Amino acid sequence: MKIFHLSAECYPVAKVGGLADVVGALPKYQNQMGVEAAVVMPYYERKFVQENEWEVQFQASSLLGTRRFYFEVLKEKTNKLGFELFLIKIPGLLDRENVYSYPDETEQFIAFQLAFLDWINWSQQSPDLIHCHDHHTGLVPFLLYNSSLYKRLSAIPTVLTIHNGQYHGAFGWSKLGLLPEIDITKTGLLEWNGAINPLASAVKCCWKYTAVSPSYLEELTVKSNGLEYLFYLERAKGTGIINGIDTEIWNPKTDSMIAESFSIQKVSVGKQKNKEALCARFGISTDRPLISFIGRLVGEKGADLLPEAIKRSIIAHPGGVNFFLLGAGEPVLQDELTALQKEFPDQCSVFIGYDEALAHLVYAGTDFLLMPSRVEPCGLNQLYALRYGTIPMVRITGGLKDTVLDFGDDGGYGIRFIQASVADIVEAVRRAVELYPDTAKVQSIRKRMMALDFSWDRSAKEYINLYESLKPAI
Ligand code: ADP
Ligand code: GLC
Repeated sequence: MKIFHLSAECYPVAKVGGLADVVGALPKYQNQMGVEAAVVMPYYERKFVQENEWEVQFQASSLLGTRRFYFEVLKEKTNKLGFELFLIKIPGLLDRENVYSYPDETEQFIAFQLAFLDWINWSQQSPDLIHCHDHHTGLVPFLLYNSSLYKRLSAIPTVLTIHNGQYHGAFGWSKLGLLPEIDITKTGLLEWNGAINPLASAVKCCWKYTAVSPSYLEELTVKSNGLEYLFYLERAKGTGIINGIDTEIWNPKTDSMIAESFSIQKVSVGKQKNKEALCARFGISTDRPLISFIGRLVGEKGADLLPEAIKRSIIAHPGGVNFFLLGAGEPVLQDELTALQKEFPDQCSVFIGYDEALAHLVYAGTDFLLMPSRVEPCGLNQLYALRYGTIPMVRITGGLKDTVLDFGDDGGYGIRFIQASVADIVEAVRRAVELYPDTAKVQSIRKRMMALDFSWDRSAKEYINLYESLKPAI
């Protein structure tokens, strides 16, 4: 079975968040299970691209409305990531550094999808299935089944995975002309709420869709930024499959990005050494419980609650708890957190920016990881925390609800709270501060967490079963 994963991000080529981690890992595990899974993504002018060798697979030109654009499909020569990796390079659109936030984002991702379809059409490739990830690749199912240009490909099944249903990539009808020749009687399949909505279109046109956790699949029908009714209507096509983690990259025994590697048997010593390294780097004392946050500084992650919640917690536990925050995002929040550090330099340290290696050190060296998310389709941070013996403190939503059990319950290991609110965070901090001195209990929780298996083995297989269920077509 030959699968093409289509995605805007893939670790380590270009990462903004968890989408990259998933698309950088799932195909690797699928290949190990005997499925030929390749990744096709936009070209970005980044370190991985510059440092590796590429061969040109295909060159052609296509039309974005009336604008002709040239594109190249480049293949990484060695398959070093454990799967075939193709980049689509389009001068002026897909040859830049950043993944998102260009003013012509709509044109950028439409051109990416058209180039992909033209490539497989003209080069006579016929994957058995196309697996689209998020709205950036959401027009592919519609175009495959409703454009005379791609008739040859129109029997190929498509699966859509929703990593984040908050973002749809919607744009106005004035841009319809950017799409190639389509069956004009089918434009309703592009539409939601008066606009062309790539995520909605993908949900309507794909053969099956998945959400990245069972709870998130349900939540999409009540909280998806306007698509609730669509998810309700289409629910028979949906499945929830929890993400795995790449246990080769996220392995405290072999991780070269942390200060001291450690196994489950050496968890206490190992975590202490990493905590010392982290605290020394940021001038924090090691003798208090350390609670960290890693993530995009946006409302979805509950990052706006952090300044007030941390302030109140520090006041409630003077000299009794430390905080470390690693993130980038909304400028107002970045400023508020920087101000918080100035106000409480002894108990709160902040690193504004994106730093992959530092994130590894934080998972290894912190005692608790706080995730007060308002929306969390799956969440990978809590899974990395578990693997590194760090107790997750999570607001129970989406994948957080499905993966973290409270230490107060049988077999549990985390701290769960119900509301994304300052009060609930402060209460969770209180529980963490109370738990921390009980070293025997903390030790047994750490061991329990590290023994959990959130590897891709099970979930990669679930995706393969889903592909196979689409068989006679495959
Ligand atoms: P999302 O994709 O919604 O941001 P996930 O929990 O799925 O959330 O994945 C976030 C990923 O991005 C994790 O690998 C996390 O370690 C990483 N990450 C987020 N912010 C930063 C940062 N500032 N520096 C380093 N890594 C980060
Ligand atoms: C999205 C979600 C996150 C999920 C990730 C990978 O970015 O916000 O919860 O873990 O995709 O599926």
